[in-house]
Amino acid sequence: MMNILILGSGGREHAFAWKLHQSRKVGKLFIAPGNAGTSQYGVNLPIETTDFESIRMSCIENSISMVVVGPELPLVEGITDYFKADPVLQHIALIGPDKAGAMLEGSKAFAKAFMVKNNIPTAASFTVLPENIEEGVEFLRGMNPDSPYVLKADGLAAGKGVLILDRLDEAIKELQLMIAGKFGKASRRVVIEQFLAGIEVSVFVLTDGKNYKLLPSAKDYKRIGDGDTGLNTGGMGAVSPVIFADHRFMQKVEDRIVKPTIAGLISEGIDYKGFIFIGLMNVEGDPFVIEYNVRLGDPEAECIIPRIKSDMVPLFEAVAKAELSTASLEIDDRSAITVVLTSGGYPGEFEKGKIISGLNTIKDCIVFQAGTGADVQSGGIKTTGGRVVAITSLDYSPEAARKKVYASVGNIAFDGLYYRKDIGLDLLSYKSR
Ligand code: AMP
Ligand code: GLY
Repeated sequence: MMNILILGSGGREHAFAWKLHQSRKVGKLFIAPGNAGTSQYGVNLPIETTDFESIRMSCIENSISMVVVGPELPLVEGITDYFKADPVLQHIALIGPDKAGAMLEGSKAFAKAFMVKNNIPTAASFTVLPENIEEGVEFLRGMNPDSPYVLKADGLAAGKGVLILDRLDEAIKELQLMIAGKFGKASRRVVIEQFLAGIEVSVFVLTDGKNYKLLPSAKDYKRIGDGDTGLNTGGMGAVSPVIFADHRFMQKVEDRIVKPTIAGLISEGIDYKGFIFIGLMNVEGDPFVIEYNVRLGDPEAECIIPRIKSDMVPLFEAVAKAELSTASLEIDDRSAITVVLTSGGYPGEFEKGKIISGLNTIKDCIVFQAGTGADVQSGGIKTTGGRVVAITSLDYSPEAARKKVYASVGNIAFDGLYYRKDIGLDLLSYKSR
């Protein structure tokens, strides 16, 4: 029996807590800072994910043997290096790459250079710094004017750092604004990228630095509105598996992308223990990398974790010991669909503090809480963020999973509740084509 600390506070972390709670190997679970949902499975600690000192103290106080890192920020800020350098924390199994590995997400310019060096298929690109902005403009002028221009802030920009623009003059103007600090320090370097037209799919890998396991694939629905319209969000829903990613395509992903990624990490001397989330574009049957993330996605995690049948604790232990090849990973072959319920107004301004009803009335789906907190006055649960709840259903077909999840959505209510009605709909029309 071991005590485990999960870092983060979203639906992804609720999904980790839900899953790890089922393990016979787990003694006590702690979540920092967690949400009202995670407190059903363990103790929420009022500690931010980048407060390494306080995390250290609570690991010692609570005899923690494993830390599972949900979001990217503590990884990019070096939590793994902090643990490795501390004689008291060294023995703790920390699931998440060190600072060098986290650069795959922390710097798009680094990720691009890594892909080019390791022959990993990705869109053609050019990295612009304040000193070569003229060359960047020239690169834009040389691009195919019939396809959109893609500009990416180099650093972490809370999911807002990618601009896709139709016109050359807009692209030049935005490039200048970005370099001037439109996204703060994150856009002092900008990656200009060729636009890839195709179907997006995300592939999740768990690695110990040498061996890897492919987790279920997923697709998230990023825009706020039905039919993929309106503003970008952190994700309004997800499906898994992604039927556009058939066996042949996945074999290409493994051979052309996953294997060279692991080999590239090894040749860079990066000891990567954790998740790699590879955002891909399927361009007429061939995979191209759009981005790497160094964690599971949210809401993708709420969709794929329920499809992992194996206990995740032995998998994580095997990651820490670099023995992942000996661990078993069994996947549920049913379809999962996740629908996210958000606060009205999100991803723009929205009100918080709305009382949520019906959370415990859903029996045939799994409810993962995200932006929720205890309401001290009423003893109930209230909204504390934009993405409030994720509901996941599992069933033998995408149709059945869709029906089930949408039948459950109506059980939950709060002021201003909004959700997309078309999550997974494309899977159905794809099938009948
Ligand atoms: P990211 O923040 O890197 O996930 O990018 C946000 C979204 O922009 C992605 O999910 C894609 O939909 C889109 N995107 C990024 N790069 C490209 C590209 N090279 N071509 C087409 N779409 C892209
Ligand atoms: N849903 C996209 C992400 O977690 O980055």
